[in-house]
Amino acid sequence: MSPWTWTLPCARRSPLRLSGLHVATIGAAFSLLYLFCVFVIPQILRLRFRTDLGWYDLGFYGFGPSKNYASFDYASPRVEISQWDAGCDPRYTFLAPRGDSIAQAGPMILDAAGNLVWMKHNWETTQDFKVQRYQDEDYLTYWEGGEIEGRGFGSWYMLDSTYTQRYEINPVGNYGGDLHEFHITPEGTALVTVYDPTPADLTSVGGPALGWIFDGVFQEIDIESGELLFEWRASRHYPVNSTYEPLRRTGRTRETAFDYVHINSVDTDEQGNYLVSARHTHSVSCIDRTTGELLWTLGGKLNDFTDASDGEATNFAWQHDARWHANNTLTLFDNAAHSNEDSGESRGMTIHLDVTAREATLQTAYYHPQQMKSVSQGNVQILDDGDRVLVGWGHSAAYSEYTPDGQLQCNVHFGASAFFTFGRVVSYRTFKGTWVGHPQNPPDAEVEGNHVYVSWNGATEVVAWRLEAWASDDVSDATSFGVVAQFEKTGFETEIEIPEDMEWPLFRIVALDADGNPLGVTDVLQRDQGMSMDELLHVQNWILYIAFVMAGGGLLAGLYRCICCRRLFRRSNDYQLVPLSEREDDRSPV
Ligand SMILES: *[C@@H]1O[C@H](CO)[C@@H](O)[C@H](O)[C@H]1NC(C)=O
Ligand SMILES: *[C@@H]1O[C@H](CO)[C@@H](O)[C@H](O)[C@H]1NC(C)=O
Repeated sequence: MSPWTWTLPCARRSPLRLSGLHVATIGAAFSLLYLFCVFVIPQILRLRFRTDLGWYDLGFYGFGPSKNYASFDYASPRVEISQWDAGCDPRYTFLAPRGDSIAQAGPMILDAAGNLVWMKHNWETTQDFKVQRYQDEDYLTYWEGGEIEGRGFGSWYMLDSTYTQRYEINPVGNYGGDLHEFHITPEGTALVTVYDPTPADLTSVGGPALGWIFDGVFQEIDIESGELLFEWRASRHYPVNSTYEPLRRTGRTRETAFDYVHINSVDTDEQGNYLVSARHTHSVSCIDRTTGELLWTLGGKLNDFTDASDGEATNFAWQHDARWHANNTLTLFDNAAHSNEDSGESRGMTIHLDVTAREATLQTAYYHPQQMKSVSQGNVQILDDGDRVLVGWGHSAAYSEYTPDGQLQCNVHFGASAFFTFGRVVSYRTFKGTWVGHPQNPPDAEVEGNHVYVSWNGATEVVAWRLEAWASDDVSDATSFGVVAQFEKTGFETEIEIPEDMEWPLFRIVALDADGNPLGVTDVLQRDQGMSMDELLHVQNWILYIAFVMAGGGLLAGLYRCICCRRLFRRSNDYQLVPLSEREDDRSPV
């Protein structure tokens, strides 16, 4: 034994020695600092505070602000229109907000001012909500089902103008329908995606020879008969090493298959060939309508095109929503980033393709004024009235409209932008379009005091509400309602003050269209008699507040007394807290 070991107790007596308490304190401080660095700092770095943000974008009203109604059970997003121009598309917006900060997720229609028009609360995930035309009729279409790590297992639905489900479409074979695409072609067929776990050789990406991939499959299905017309598998055309997705720990089992292509949109061109976007290969391919062969590929490792825009037309990454348009134009949403650590700014793109010469030119890029980094989802829509463009920012709760040369015209947020990287409010895609809805259920109304609130989820043609009182002495004559007054419809829910001089306690409200025709009638309503249940609840709330304040006050007074008592106690008693080191000192001479 070295003498050092035995001289150590002496060293402990030096003024610098560390007691157990010190060590514990320093340890705790370091642990806290470590936890702060590991957990808190990355979250703070993800915040996107900017000096130009208003209260809404700073999260003053919550991550996903919402609006409640008296006559309607669900809350709808409260939007922030940060830029609006006379040229903005006045039609409806179709989106399916979801995320931890959404009051009720599901498909939703908003008007141009952000007012709710229709919503449906779906417990399962809803994606790709839009209007599509099928057999000369407009349908609301969407995917609904379960979602695991960006892949879906569900079905596609079509609702008619009365919001009645008319079709449920499922893939042909033992598959779950994937959430990424449900596109109805001009021929009246459905293009849908499937993620199919398939055995594959993963040696080219450093994986096992007997590995698993999620094959990117799309099917073309006859909507009426459900018959499979065409099926295509990415694995027959894209080698595994065409991916940019790191293998990590995936690919070893069927359940953890390697998602190497991540098919996320399917469209057709004028010849009926297919246009497919594969996010994880950073490429868009044109696929022969009969043989399934790749006719050409834009972007990624298999790129066939020269880039006439210094790389800007083909350098898109992790993209979504490739669509074919007239004049050999392609639109897509370039996410540019896969995770918050990636650099890159998301953008909408229109790309002109000279397919014969295999040359790509970036026509326009559409950027968000807050330099958006949308790590997933997103879409681009060319609006009907010309070449103006709508960009849905997917993982970032925003949609924007642009002129053909990429000037921002309109910008709407449905979540606080400072927290966009957290994805607390998202919508896979966002569209604009027209829609006429005639719900089958009657309008909803709620009487509160001398006001009545009336709304009608999905009724697009209502312009006014007519208050009618039951003006009959004959109790058996339920049809005798007399017009009291008429009110303009305002937003989703209209608040109507019941006229003081309305003689009769029973009344109803009639929805009127622009020509004054009645469209629907509420149930018979009754003027509030005395104190309503809501007012009683209100009174109860006040009692609760007072109880809380009194309890809190009592607690503080008690604490104050205790501290005073303790001081007295310490003065009168020699039992005190003494640092450990001092006690050791006292003991040492013994
Ligand atoms: C993929 O692997 C094949 C053979 O394993 C090789 O010939 C090809 O060059 C690779 N492609 C890329 C893009 O790495
Ligand atoms: C078609 O695209 C080309 C290339 O960008 C453009 O010069 C031309 O004006 C476009 N034509 C139409 C009709 O949009």
